[in-house]
Amino acid sequence: ARLDARNTFGVAARAPMLVEVTDTAALPELFGYAMLRDGPVLVLGGGSNLLFAGDPAGAVLALSSQRIEILNEHADVCIVRADAGVGWHDFVLWTLGQGLCGLENLALIPGTVGAAPIQNIGAYGVEVRERIRAVHAFDRRDGGFVRIDAGDCAFAYRDSLFKHDPDRYVVTNVEFALPRTPELRLDYAGIGEELQAMGIDGTPRASQVAEAVIRIRQRKLPDPALLGNAGSFFKNPIVPAGIAETLQYEHPGMPMFRGSSDDTRKLSAAWLIDQCGWKGHRDGDAGVSAEHALVLVNHGQATGLQLLDLARRIAASVQARFGIAIEPEPRIIGATW
Ligand code: EPU
Repeated sequence: ARLDARNTFGVAARAPMLVEVTDTAALPELFGYAMLRDGPVLVLGGGSNLLFAGDPAGAVLALSSQRIEILNEHADVCIVRADAGVGWHDFVLWTLGQGLCGLENLALIPGTVGAAPIQNIGAYGVEVRERIRAVHAFDRRDGGFVRIDAGDCAFAYRDSLFKHDPDRYVVTNVEFALPRTPELRLDYAGIGEELQAMGIDGTPRASQVAEAVIRIRQRKLPDPALLGNAGSFFKNPIVPAGIAETLQYEHPGMPMFRGSSDDTRKLSAAWLIDQCGWKGHRDGDAGVSAEHALVLVNHGQATGLQLLDLARRIAASVQARFGIAIEPEPRIIGATW
């Protein structure tokens, strides 16, 4: 089966078998077949966070289950359970339509509900882990369904248990805890200005925050339907505070953010790459977005390997100039970083 239309980079790839799962109750039976039981299986969501540098070695599974349920309609904090196959942005809009808050900063992120916990999607000062109560999955190792509390998912910046052990779990649905009373987070650079530009002063509604985020994203990030890409190609590096401060002393304009603990800092991979002159760079059809240095783009016929090669050269130049290792954010299939 061809996967060209199932990855947002739009690169050519093919799988020995593609299984569309409409009802997750079929998973135990499905994993009874030798090819799925014994071989590697790639679970594909929106295909927006992977790069096919080669073909997947085994079967590809796409979950298309679409249910969304509110488990406690009248509570102040609603528990919403959504199936893995629901489109992420549609889900965010649906929750806002129900008067539920908490996901507004995560509007317009490509992908599916099932993929959201895997890399703990985050944007504009919010990570999805803050709104997840539990993740339901099929455990291939033990052959049964499990419910994993958010506290046991090992969530961290763009990371989780599921990312560490990609062959073990198939996420089937996710439980969110969403308040009816807004707890807005407007501190991330750009949101306040955008709301002002929209003519909103005073306290915005959650849906207006989502609208501001949508406007910023549409300006900064290329639409994968028009120009192949997988969002940020590199994670922002988290480094010891001492190293970050020395670098900032040498480069006073360098952005620096709080890290995962007091003695670490998060640097801006976009800034580091930009300083190395990559923004708008193009090698054939593999390129770097002219709007955002962190986004690799496929201008048409680039192969996954060409994009990977470009990514490696970008990382090598950042290493040479700043002594900082940057790592890919999307999953790379068919090659190792
Ligand atoms: N910057 C540059 N050059 C550029 C772009 C940005 O120097 O070409 C600088 C900006 O001046 C700014 C800093 O880099 O100081 C940060 O830029 P931005 O606000 O765009 O955020 P980011 O760190 O590049 C992260 C996420 C995005 C998320 C945004 C907004 C990662 C890897 N990326 O990008 O997530 O949308 O913040 O919160 O953490 C994704 O993961 O695919 C993704 C798009």
